[in-house]
Amino acid sequence: MNKPADLPIARIDFNDEDSNTSPNPTFDSILQTRLSRRRMLGGGVASAATVMLGSFGLSACGSDAGSGPSATPLAFSPVPKALADVVAVPSGYKASTIYALGDPLDVATAAYKNDGTDTAYENRAGDHHDGMEWFGLDASSRPSATANDRGLLGVNHEATTDAALSSFFLHANGGTSTLPRPAAEIDKELMIHGVSVVEVRRGASGDWGYVVDSAFNTRYTTLTPMELSGPARGHPQLVTKYSLDGTRTRGTLNNCGTGKTPWGTLLTGEENWFGYFFRNATDDTARGSDKSVTSLRRYGRNAGATSRHGWESGGAADRYARWNNSKLGASTDGSDDYRNEMNGFGYVVEIDPYSKSTAARKRTALGRMAHESAAFGKLEAGKPVAVYMGCDARNEYIYKFVSTANWSAADASPLDRMATGTKYLDSGKLYVAKFNADGTGQWIELAMSNPQIAGYSAYAFTDAGDIAINTRLAADALGATKMDRPEWCAVNPANGEIYFTLTNNSNRRVSPSTSTQLAPDSANPRVYTDMKGTASQQGNPNGQILRLKEGAAGNTATLFTWDVYLFGAQADAPAATVNLSNLTGDQDFSSPDGLVFSQATGLLWIQTDDGAYTDVTNCMMLVGRPGMVGDGAKRTLTYPRTGLADLVVDTYVGKAPTAETLKRFLVGPKGAEITGCCETPDGKALFINIQHPGENTLQADVTDPSKYESRWPSNAGYGAGSRPRSATIVITKNDGGTIGT
Ligand code: FEO
Ligand code: CA
Ligand code: CA
Ligand code: CA
Repeated sequence: MNKPADLPIARIDFNDEDSNTSPNPTFDSILQTRLSRRRMLGGGVASAATVMLGSFGLSACGSDAGSGPSATPLAFSPVPKALADVVAVPSGYKASTIYALGDPLDVATAAYKNDGTDTAYENRAGDHHDGMEWFGLDASSRPSATANDRGLLGVNHEATTDAALSSFFLHANGGTSTLPRPAAEIDKELMIHGVSVVEVRRGASGDWGYVVDSAFNTRYTTLTPMELSGPARGHPQLVTKYSLDGTRTRGTLNNCGTGKTPWGTLLTGEENWFGYFFRNATDDTARGSDKSVTSLRRYGRNAGATSRHGWESGGAADRYARWNNSKLGASTDGSDDYRNEMNGFGYVVEIDPYSKSTAARKRTALGRMAHESAAFGKLEAGKPVAVYMGCDARNEYIYKFVSTANWSAADASPLDRMATGTKYLDSGKLYVAKFNADGTGQWIELAMSNPQIAGYSAYAFTDAGDIAINTRLAADALGATKMDRPEWCAVNPANGEIYFTLTNNSNRRVSPSTSTQLAPDSANPRVYTDMKGTASQQGNPNGQILRLKEGAAGNTATLFTWDVYLFGAQADAPAATVNLSNLTGDQDFSSPDGLVFSQATGLLWIQTDDGAYTDVTNCMMLVGRPGMVGDGAKRTLTYPRTGLADLVVDTYVGKAPTAETLKRFLVGPKGAEITGCCETPDGKALFINIQHPGENTLQADVTDPSKYESRWPSNAGYGAGSRPRSATIVITKNDGGTIGT
């Protein structure tokens, strides 16, 4: 869920965490080290930077060879911006709903009535479908990399449409908005979060559907036992009443972006998990204001924090008590309460979609943050594997994990998928990105061997497990670059370049006046005002898509170059300061979030989770044919400041898209974000998620369908009742062709 500027705080703040007050370098201090990219690369400046660039690949040296878009043409008419309560796709395409909130995952569970009386959500599709991956099945129900008509979808169920505690569409009368909340309501809400695995098939008619009686169907909820894996496994900070040795936890939460491993498992990122926990107002004192308090504050939980749904109020049973993250017991190690429960969340979780009896593993080596997607760098036999990740909150960071193990092609189809995950994802180096004003950047390792971490004054790190749990603090210590909310990342199969959506940032200011506001810098260069009706939206309301090119060492490179592939903007915004990518009305977008390269076509799917341009259009999906880092030009933005010299920011803008290289492909129903994107290997079926249609409906109106913001997908003929439901759709081309071409 994004942050619509005009919604009351109670509706937004659990997704809008804002805790990075670390004194990292400001743009002004970076500016002092600035050299122009051309001067550095020309070799005319004797500096450390010049020497470092020796390891760069060709494109950093200005070669534009092969810089044109490589994918096939976009042979469809762009979809216009719209505010209708439908899923709109281009002429010649069809979009069909196949799997919505509440759909039963076995034949013993009743059909979904969609009137607030349904139960047994542990056997149903969860809510708020988000990231999603495809896992093919052959006719003998074995994993297949080539099957095009049968597979499993691993689907994140991020959250639920709520107001004032209650997931109101799930309860007949809208539910209880005061504490304590009834256990029966909480029990439903505990089950609609997490992940589902569901089998889908294409029928003889060519139409797709999910398979209600598939033996593969399963759910991972907030209560599913999971293993903690990697450097933090068994760490004292993971000891709870449930796991006395700190090796296990229950459940996964606020699952947002996904990834698919080269060995055929699902990675799911835990994003805004902290918002579900309660802390006593006196908890800092109860903890003796020790370093756990520093950690809790850095992860968005100040003492006295209320929880998103009040789950801790359901009663004395463990399933409710665990959501109170306060120190309540007398033990010194946390074995008699849930003071450490939050430390079991915030990871990339690996799930084997083909084996529901295999325990999911939280891969702590990839760090603890507001995880989004996890994208693998290009694989090279005999070289380490790289995983790229973003931490989605205002002013947070971009990360890279590099495995200790070297890639072996035999691991692409292993007998034991989870053991293969352990091989590549439990041991390695974790880096955070620092972007320089000259178009270069560095990956800085988060390790005890770095004196900036070992000697960090704000938090006394003890070991690698401590870094894995308190990754944000370690990144603060290194002066990483604070970004405009990193969401998904994706790796271009054509050249290995890494794309990151930076969705927006309401905290950018030319002259920061609070500890969480930040001046623009090269990679996050825009500060402007965008009007939404009469509301004035400040900072960077529309976001951008950044891209990185690793140095010659590829996955293990510690230096990279970057530019901005696209700046989001409305088409009529000023081209000199806001619409820097010259977007037209057929291409303009705001708040990019989901980002996926098609392995079949090389096309880039861009999805939005917007609250800024929604006075003009519902959220959307576009498709692009990107070039490469450096295919555009340097631009200089000049910001006047009262009583100070102008703030001058150089940035690097990718080649402006044309009508042939970027088009709007889909516009969603009212109140929904567009997210999740996977395909059959032939690229002829594209699966997309429509999340939270009708989320701006008032809780008080839950029994009056005429007042719903959206009635999708029932208004498109899918399912009973008229309450809006998050759902998976499949897009096919009427002529049976490849999507987007
Ligand atoms: Fe769940 Fe950052 O979007
Ligand atoms: Ca978002
Ligand atoms: Ca506007
Ligand atoms: Ca997202």
